[in-house]
Amino acid sequence: MDFVGRCFLVLSLLLVAGANIFVPKGKRVLARMPDSTYSHGNVTEKKETTFLITFDSGDQIEYSYEDKTAVLYDTTPAWVSLGDHVLAMSMMAKGIEQQYLVGFVSGDFCQGRDKDRYEITLDESHNVKNYTLDELRKLPFFSSISQVGARVFARGNDNFYHRGFVKGTSYHGNTLYIHVQLNQSGSISHQASDERAIILDVIPLYSHVHATQRVIGYYPGYSSYLPGMLVRRNAGCWKSAYHVRFDMGGQREQDFNEIRIIPPPVKFLFFP
Ligand SMILES: *[C@@H]1O[C@H](CO)[C@@H](O)[C@H](O)[C@H]1NC(C)=O
Ligand SMILES: *[C@@H]1O[C@H](CO)[C@@H](O)[C@H](O)[C@H]1NC(C)=O
Ligand SMILES: *[C@@H]1O[C@H](CO)[C@@H](O)[C@H](O)[C@H]1NC(C)=O
Repeated sequence: MDFVGRCFLVLSLLLVAGANIFVPKGKRVLARMPDSTYSHGNVTEKKETTFLITFDSGDQIEYSYEDKTAVLYDTTPAWVSLGDHVLAMSMMAKGIEQQYLVGFVSGDFCQGRDKDRYEITLDESHNVKNYTLDELRKLPFFSSISQVGARVFARGNDNFYHRGFVKGTSYHGNTLYIHVQLNQSGSISHQASDERAIILDVIPLYSHVHATQRVIGYYPGYSSYLPGMLVRRNAGCWKSAYHVRFDMGGQREQDFNEIRIIPPPVKFLFFP
């Protein structure tokens, strides 16, 4: 068997053995659009390695069962916690054709009212809005940049990091590439071995963040995250948790949800 054939076999075995998403035919779900928003649709066809979603608009998109964030059930979560990755009902589209936007829980108002309210920071333009629990959905879990559907930041030619999701992986010769969909029209590919090119979009724990670490961070006016260095951790671990100095100049106090850690360069020790 040639190399591609072997890879295909391994991939097929993974497809059979892997914990793939379970989507019964006819099930009504929220499904990811190419621009990373989510809309209502139904599972209308199931094939061997893919399934088809028909959106309420009539549009159809085919997804791999491997895709971790392709679809989710349209149910109100029992709770959400600070730092959770969520979908928030778009205010503009409320009532008409509902659209959900990706964001993080960045604030929790413990007011003991009849409805829980949370502050969500949306990926889109870093918009901050308040939502009740019934307007939120939990984004499915992913844990590695090589998982299809994982939400990530990909390094661009400008050395800034652009938000998107992993749309697939492929081999060119012996080299594994990860392809990241940024928006409707843009995508970026990197070699999987370039460990600082693609960063998982998961908020780091305060206890995992330390001075001198390389990070990427939010900077007002930029839609991408910019590389820099962590100067110090501050006393509060939520608001203004970190002080970051950016490579392009400029420093900023960053909230807990506004930085990601760039993996340190891997150094192997060889013993003769
Ligand atoms: C999806 O299913 C619901 C009920 O299960 C049905 O009312 C709706 O028309 C279906 N939509 C599409 C696009 O198939
Ligand atoms: C969210 O609610 C809090 C507490 O009621 C309030 O202080 C804050 O201004 C609200 N934020 C927005 C963006 O509406
Ligand atoms: C898509 O992303 C690329 C890279 O960030 C950007 O240059 C382009 O303007 C974006 N296109 C749209 C339609 O937002």
